[in-house]
Amino acid sequence: MKAHFSKAGFILAAAGSAIGLGNIWKFPYITGVYGGGAFVLAYIVAVLFIGIPLLIGEMAIGAIGKKDPVGSFESLAKKAAGVWKNVGFSMLTGLVILSFYSIVIGWILYYLFLSLSTLPQTVEEAKTVFETMLALDIKTQILFHTLSMVITVFIVYLGVDKGIEKTNLILLPILFVILLFLFFYSMSFDSFSLAVGFMFVPDFSLLTPKALLVAVGHAFFTLSLGMATMLTYASYTDKNTNYVKSAIIVSLMEIGVAIFVGITLFAFLFNFGFESNQGPGLVFVSMPSLFYNFGMFGNILAVLFFIALAFASITSAISILEPTTAYIMAEKKWSRKKSVAVFGALVWGVGILLLLSNTKEYSATFTFFSKGLFDWFDFVSSAILLILGGIFTALFLGFGADKNNLKMHMTHFMSDFAFEAWYFGVKYCIPPVLIALMIYMISE
Ligand code: PHE
Repeated sequence: MKAHFSKAGFILAAAGSAIGLGNIWKFPYITGVYGGGAFVLAYIVAVLFIGIPLLIGEMAIGAIGKKDPVGSFESLAKKAAGVWKNVGFSMLTGLVILSFYSIVIGWILYYLFLSLSTLPQTVEEAKTVFETMLALDIKTQILFHTLSMVITVFIVYLGVDKGIEKTNLILLPILFVILLFLFFYSMSFDSFSLAVGFMFVPDFSLLTPKALLVAVGHAFFTLSLGMATMLTYASYTDKNTNYVKSAIIVSLMEIGVAIFVGITLFAFLFNFGFESNQGPGLVFVSMPSLFYNFGMFGNILAVLFFIALAFASITSAISILEPTTAYIMAEKKWSRKKSVAVFGALVWGVGILLLLSNTKEYSATFTFFSKGLFDWFDFVSSAILLILGGIFTALFLGFGADKNNLKMHMTHFMSDFAFEAWYFGVKYCIPPVLIALMIYMISE
């Protein structure tokens, strides 16, 4: 029998994929950099009007096609199936993303371990810890990157129900409890209302075109769109699973978590007089140094915080490895074990080159056109590959797939009118917006 998700398992797995470093690390820091409320609003609008329609579309392709990424595109195409099936190869973006995502998970696992001993007392000290790890501590980074890949590969090896579904069933509820605890704790600070104001009171003068585009790009990354992840998960549902409702629930959960986490982190930061624009170091520098102020309890807070980050990111990492695994198993008839071992090893190896590109010793070797390999991978995947995947997926839905077939299946879960509105949006509105976004990001 084909691997299978229960209804709840599917929603949790999709939420586990969506909720990741994008929510706890990236969203707060870009919200801080782009000035708060207006950016949050732009992100919400992007999720609602671009994210949800595309997520519904991706899930529909998987749920109707019921195959691996390439096979699903092929079976839904009305003609030129041999050409359209190539959109499925957007799954390869996942391998690019996973190679640096796993390094960041490695940092998190290392910080989890550090949180058990003395925390840095000042921001300067925290900065030194982080920068020393990045530039000099190659062994530690390789060790924890390896650990992160071993965990990811092992869970995917266990399979869809025993590995992926079960992991999400256990880790996500714990993640939610920790985040809620930190949120309620942050309510006790005087700075809480300041943080709420920062997240919700928009100052539209800060909403530059760049901020708008960053918001759209983030909506993409955070909903795991454009690389056949949600498509693959949806292919494991049975035909009664309402993927339209699931896509909406997952997106709302995604927005909810981003906002709760944003408020929590800013309440912590403002309480200790930090500015909002801490940049990427927010999680690895500002937070650890501020936990020090709580004494022993600070260690507990730090441990909880890094467990939350670890759980959120591991449930995303497994969703990044699954599409390629599904493809190789279905089309090349490899066993699950062999697929995860080979691709896991590949990602692991590339990851090592990436982390070397951040170090003092090797950065010159791995710097091309004044950007290190790590930054190149990040840039190429989120500015180009994910968006390209999204554009081609939207074009496929609008022009490649048989509309009647889509309509017949999708109107089980939505009205005719809603279907027509969705179809029009995906066919004519989303591709131009995404193409503009991509051109802008590349020319930046
Ligand atoms: N959505 C994940 C996050 O927010 C990252 C991700 C991207 C996962 C693409 C799967 C596919 O961290």
